[in-house]
Amino acid sequence: MTNPASDALVFFGATGDLAYKQIFPALLAMVARDGLDVPIIGVAHAGWSVEQLRQRAHDSVAEAAKKTGKGVDEAAFAKLAAHLRYVDGDYNEAATFAQLKQTLGAAKAPLHYLAIPPALFGTVVTSLKAAGCADDARVVVEKPFGRDLASAQALNRTLHTVFPESAIFRIDHYLGKEAVQNLLYFRFANSVLEPVWNNRYVDRVQITMAEEFGVDGRGSFYEGVGAIRDVLQNHLLQVTSLLAMDAPIGSDPAALNAEKLRLFRAMRPLQPADVVRGQFQGYREVSGVAPDSDVETFVALRLAIDTWRWAGVPFLIRAGKKLPLTTTQVMVDMKAPPLSVFDAIAAPQSNYFRFRLSPQVVIAEGMRVKLPGEALRGEPVELIARHHSGVEMAPYERLLGDALRGDNALFTSDECVEAAWRVVDNVLDHKDAVRPYAPGSWGPPEAAALAGDEGWHDPQPEAAPPC
Ligand code: BG6
Repeated sequence: MTNPASDALVFFGATGDLAYKQIFPALLAMVARDGLDVPIIGVAHAGWSVEQLRQRAHDSVAEAAKKTGKGVDEAAFAKLAAHLRYVDGDYNEAATFAQLKQTLGAAKAPLHYLAIPPALFGTVVTSLKAAGCADDARVVVEKPFGRDLASAQALNRTLHTVFPESAIFRIDHYLGKEAVQNLLYFRFANSVLEPVWNNRYVDRVQITMAEEFGVDGRGSFYEGVGAIRDVLQNHLLQVTSLLAMDAPIGSDPAALNAEKLRLFRAMRPLQPADVVRGQFQGYREVSGVAPDSDVETFVALRLAIDTWRWAGVPFLIRAGKKLPLTTTQVMVDMKAPPLSVFDAIAAPQSNYFRFRLSPQVVIAEGMRVKLPGEALRGEPVELIARHHSGVEMAPYERLLGDALRGDNALFTSDECVEAAWRVVDNVLDHKDAVRPYAPGSWGPPEAAALAGDEGWHDPQPEAAPPC
């Protein structure tokens, strides 16, 4: 990939939550690891000075450092602070963009990161163009990318009035996760999987994204979104696509995207009967949430993928807040041996592949082996192929670095994002009542029925890695 690197990073929404939680820590890591050395311009309408922005950046990285138990790398922070500039102004006023143009100085090919509500995308990109800040530039946009298929299509049209598709980077931070990368690598760097990765050998696939916490502090955002829009349409369908797609014909982004797109298009659009929506008891008391809200904080569904490879294999997917623990895990259950030669093997069948995507990175295979002794009796064991903490590189560091280099392999294309909306479009408008569930449970009882007699694999806390 030989795209020229961007020579400045502009981020809109500089005083907001996303900048605080993700962007400043990622920028600091990029300065420390790769010596990021371009002007970094925050834009917001807050009446701040650049000193206030630097202070905010320091607070942000200090808070992030506390979580890892390490101190702030002050030498790297000093370099980051020296690169920081600030433009204050209303996104509706041309003067804001004139000031941005001036602040960009000699930079000719900036990367604009829109960490702002999608309703403002149109105004901002049009003004970037009018001010001469969009030539040879790239743009990064955050999820949620639209609210449904029609709004995503409209957003794509708006972005395309200013930027070619190759300059648009739609972020789904799940694609920047080490474990998600490893899932792709593991599938296509080994030849042993391919012969069994189909409906002759795979019985069912389950994906669980469980979060122990609720929506405190994000009630009003979450009210406008719900679990289907927040994590299913993007993170979990992306994981499904990597798990189920055919091998790309090369490692370039276009080849990868082509296979993902084929897979998204083969996902059968969900109908209300395929989906159970749940809401944890107490959600309606969260600040910013309507007292009669029917927004889902949990979703479970049964997805069909209409290809020769996957016909008949259910993809059972669920995600929820206030579940028993925080983890994302994929289980690929293999079919039982066609005849039981030895001991009758009790369900659940013990041949599987397990991918823990967070918080740890684990790839494991479930097998049966004989117990020592005279009888031909066995026990299930798990072979661990990879097990580590998963804190090597935060997704935002990886994705921002890629966007600055112009590498769009880990970003979602216009066609993929629209194909993913097409899958969920029929189940967005709350046709069925939301089912209550107790905080700390695995969701409403109705979700169990979707998984049939075998039930769901409830992820357990991960054991310590083997020595
Ligand atoms: C975000 C969602 O995209 O992903 C959140 O808006 C969710 O609701 C988060 O908690 C989960 O991401 P991670 O990386 O913390 O597992």
